Amino acid sequence: MGIDLDRFLETSAQVDLADVAWHAVPERRLHDAALRTVRYFQLVESSTLHYVRVLTGTSSWRDPELSSFVTAWLYEEEFHGRAFRRFLAAYGDPAPVVARPAVFEARSFGERFDELGQRALSRFWPGAWPAVHMVWGAIQELTTYHAYRALGARAGHPELAVLCERIGKQELRHFAYYYRQAERRLGADAHARRVVSTALRIGWRPVGLGMSAPEEACHALSFLFDGAEGTEIAAIEARVRLLPGLEWFDLFGAWVTRHGVGRAPRDWLAPVE
Ligand SMILES: [Fe+2]
Ligand SMILES: [Fe+2]
Repeated sequence: MGIDLDRFLETSAQVDLADVAWHAVPERRLHDAALRTVRYFQLVESSTLHYVRVLTGTSSWRDPELSSFVTAWLYEEEFHGRAFRRFLAAYGDPAPVVARPAVFEARSFGERFDELGQRALSRFWPGAWPAVHMVWGAIQELTTYHAYRALGARAGHPELAVLCERIGKQELRHFAYYYRQAERRLGADAHARRVVSTALRIGWRPVGLGMSAPEEACHALSFLFDGAEGTEIAAIEARVRLLPGLEWFDLFGAWVTRHGVGRAPRDWLAPVE
């Protein structure tokens, strides 16, 4: 497992945005639906520290490899949030500056419940909890990778497309690390496979949901993926199902169906050039 970590740490860096033409950002206008989605991801990316805060209360924190990975991963995610913040400021719609403790205090009841659940389950199954963490991370990172590919294509904004492409590349590296770890930990341990399935069934929700209103997540999942009517969520689920013990995984499709998230109106989308 150390090889994955060494490779990740050696290539860890701030997302490279040196050639983004920030002055040109306000020249191309975004549909309100696209702008709302950018705001959502600015908040999600900037909330990574909160997830790490919760993670420190679980048994993953005691795994020396995972704690090193999380440190470098958090550093990269911080710059994703800052990239979207800079984009919104350049566009003329700056994100409000909210102190992180205030955002954390304003998190939803569901998120608080989820945190307690994570702590309790990780105490109950300390040896298997890192596998839960790795599977969870793999699903959320794959979702953000698909999300940024879609955002770049659907928003029709050249500079935003550069941001999405560069950030998306890092999300893919994050996914690769989590996924390989998940594969190994699940492949080697039948108990971990059972614990992961149980934990996902109890608590899995789409990325970013805890830190914003559910309607914001629904909007993003419609704008980017056409919800239950698109092909992206099915593609994410298909990849997750290749993991040992997760052949049943259908929670993402079930969530968008349950919340009535469907196809984005075509006038939200930039014409294909
Ligand atoms: Fe990110
Ligand atoms: Fe990521």
